[in-house]
Amino acid sequence: MSALVAEAVSKNFGGVQALSNVSFAVEQGERHLIIGPNGAGKTTMFNMLSGAFPVSSGRVTLFGQDITNIPANARARLGLARTFQITNLFPRLTATENIVLALQAQSKSAFSMFSRMRGDKDLFARAGALLDEWGLSEIADKAAREISYGQQRQVDLILAMASNPKVLLLDEPMAGLSAAEVVRAVGMVHSLPKDMTVLMIEHDMDVAFDLADRITVMHQGGVIAEGTTDEIRNHPKVTEIYLGAD
Ligand SMILES: Nc1ncnc2c1ncn2[C@@H]1O[C@H](COP(=O)(O)OP(=O)(O)O)[C@@H](O)[C@H]1O
Ligand SMILES: [Mg+2]
Repeated sequence: MSALVAEAVSKNFGGVQALSNVSFAVEQGERHLIIGPNGAGKTTMFNMLSGAFPVSSGRVTLFGQDITNIPANARARLGLARTFQITNLFPRLTATENIVLALQAQSKSAFSMFSRMRGDKDLFARAGALLDEWGLSEIADKAAREISYGQQRQVDLILAMASNPKVLLLDEPMAGLSAAEVVRAVGMVHSLPKDMTVLMIEHDMDVAFDLADRITVMHQGGVIAEGTTDEIRNHPKVTEIYLGAD
């Protein structure tokens, strides 16, 4: 059984058809990359999968369960986590506090988050351990707005991984990072547990080819190619849409 499946998903925003009949399957433990030019519909697809917006038509299943009509937080509880294209941290909270909030949001007692959070020693210990594990302990007590953009993106990744999701959706986690930070973030993705299913949108082809078991190429709201790294590297349609682009 596939981990995550989109079946003929379409999405209209008023007159704009952002997605038309998009289908693909992500297998358990796979590193599945989505590439494609700006405006192709990649982020919209993530919004459909994560439940940020409803589909116009089509179906989404998670380990065989139809999740098309269930809200985002219920999908998260079923093991589907995501990051956003833009950093999603609370700027005035420390890196640790941001992670504690993410850990709390996963647990059933998510309400009254702020009043509760400072008392929750266990979650603070786990957040600290996560930052430690990823070599970021020096920023643990710094406010998110005071750390570099690259560090913020790494904390974003830790937030998404913190709940130990079954399926992790990463929307351009490398965007805006320095070359050294990209190497680091790629390393983080490489060191995710092998049984964790990863679906990731990536702009940089080298990064995509480095990480991917399988690649889906989107263009103008549809899927134009899907295959292994080698198949996609040499795919005529893919070369065509990327020719002349960066
Ligand atoms: N909330 C929205 N409202 C209206 N149009 C949207 C919205 N989100 C995305 N779109 C449109 O859908 C298309 C695909 O956008 P997007 O999914 O962000 O592309 P990508 O992530 O591949 O760059 C674009 O034409 C975009 O303007
Ligand atoms: Mg996008």
